[in-house]
Amino acid sequence: MDSEVLGVKAPATTVTGDHDWWRTAVIYQVYVRSFADASGDGTGDLAGVRDRLPYLASLGVDALWFNPWYPSPLADGGYDVADYRDIHPMFGQLADAEALITEAAALGIRTIIDIVPNHISSAHPWFQEALAAGPGSPERERFWFRPGGGVDGEQMPTDWVSSFQGTTWTRTTNPDGTPGEWYLHLFTPEQPDLNWNHPDVRREHEEVLRFWFDRGVAGVRIDSAALPVKDETFPQLPAEPGPGEHPHVDRDEIHDIYRAWRAIADSYTEPRVLVGEVWLEDAARFARYLRPDEMHTAFNFDFMTQPWDAAAMRTSIERTLAEHAPVGAPATWVLSNHDITRPVTRYGREDSGFAFDRKRFGTPTDLGLGTRRARAAALLTAALPGCLYIYQGDELGLPEADIPRELIEDPMHFRSGGVDPGRDGCRVPLPWTSAGPSLGFGPDGAAAPWLPQPTSWGSLSVAAQEGDPASMLSLYRAALAHRRSDADLRGEALEWIDAGADVIAFRRGARLISITNLGTAPVALPPHSGVHLASAPLAGGLLPPDSTAWLAVEPPSGESA
Ligand code: NOJ
Repeated sequence: MDSEVLGVKAPATTVTGDHDWWRTAVIYQVYVRSFADASGDGTGDLAGVRDRLPYLASLGVDALWFNPWYPSPLADGGYDVADYRDIHPMFGQLADAEALITEAAALGIRTIIDIVPNHISSAHPWFQEALAAGPGSPERERFWFRPGGGVDGEQMPTDWVSSFQGTTWTRTTNPDGTPGEWYLHLFTPEQPDLNWNHPDVRREHEEVLRFWFDRGVAGVRIDSAALPVKDETFPQLPAEPGPGEHPHVDRDEIHDIYRAWRAIADSYTEPRVLVGEVWLEDAARFARYLRPDEMHTAFNFDFMTQPWDAAAMRTSIERTLAEHAPVGAPATWVLSNHDITRPVTRYGREDSGFAFDRKRFGTPTDLGLGTRRARAAALLTAALPGCLYIYQGDELGLPEADIPRELIEDPMHFRSGGVDPGRDGCRVPLPWTSAGPSLGFGPDGAAAPWLPQPTSWGSLSVAAQEGDPASMLSLYRAALAHRRSDADLRGEALEWIDAGADVIAFRRGARLISITNLGTAPVALPPHSGVHLASAPLAGGLLPPDSTAWLAVEPPSGESA
């Protein structure tokens, strides 16, 4: 199915030389494996993305962020990179990526790719060479090989805990078959950590950045960006590490890496952009990554993890804006991504916040409630100052899917001993049409999608939502179109309005108020001259529970219209 069938018309725009585009951009995250399958093998591919660029243009996004698209054994969904200078054969070839970057730019859409500095695939030639070369070899210096403790080296070198649960060290076998050294992997054993004190590691990543920047990539999303530098003395984990004292999180030396990357990014005529995946609770430490000579922006996970609660969300918004202000960086607003339970599901649960260790099979969920709240959250976040991220499928209001246990691929599931459902439930192939064996994900006669789509998703498909003004897709389109046309929404000014304990309300510039009702009773709308958009029908001057409205207001007296 091509975009014509969906009635989508692409605007004739091109990427312009606005060097500050990233300050207010709407960035759509493409999980290629699950976006659209042009080849019919059951897996999404770059040709599928190219076919649907008009859809993305009509949605109104400024840039696409692609999860890793490189050759990889997929031990962790591609975050185990075997070759940074090529494309995974199941997604296409390098020429497809080049064509995609060019075609997207012709529609006014920039491309951001994923760089994974903390680790590479155990299938990468560097690691294979290190295993073959044996203890004490220069090849092993690019990684963290260490002898074990105990009489026979049978104990792991440290007690560090993996982000994926389980151990962080795997013991090797020497070339002569005897038990050998251990190597560090903060994630799976298939993702050995790199030694960032080694010049090869630094040089290689800088060359990889140039390789993709030279191909027109507008920026990089930096995976696990607070982790690459380690304390080389390999101490045990301190009970309560102070700032900069953790042996493998947020080490002070890490900033040199990103300063070097920023210099490379700035050397291009249109400077390239660095976006960090920085999971840190300490707001001041987080902001250090956003100093003017480091990253441009970083994902704001604080807001995403809040429960559906006005005080918690408002406090998070205030904290976020306050922490960004001193470094002059824009905030980012993120409702989900390929690691996080979908908003429609999350907000439909009693425990509506997000934490990896609280994910469980069979959690009761009210999808109707979750959908109303996800609609409200979409408008709320789109009204906040800064940059907005949309994970593919959230614009369709897809819920988290239940994946049969025997089909789960995510290592988080296995490393939790089968307790954690893992992240595959938010990575299910998109529904494009209301009917058909893969709901338009693949062409007629294609292989089944790599993860099964719930049959009920036909009614959530792009085709089903296209012509429905009340659909989630229509809401997203209208919100992004309004955001694009309203300079106040792209400005930085935000003035809080006190509208009650269960309400988040603020004025953006002179003429727009965004108001969200997180309580259980309708609330009165403040005086307004019109309604730009609402996530639910408004009646009698009231805002229903779990909804957001964007109101047109007259400028305060003294300000010109
Ligand atoms: C963060 C990525 O978003 C996640 O998907 C991945 O598993 C880890 N980093 C390790 O690369």
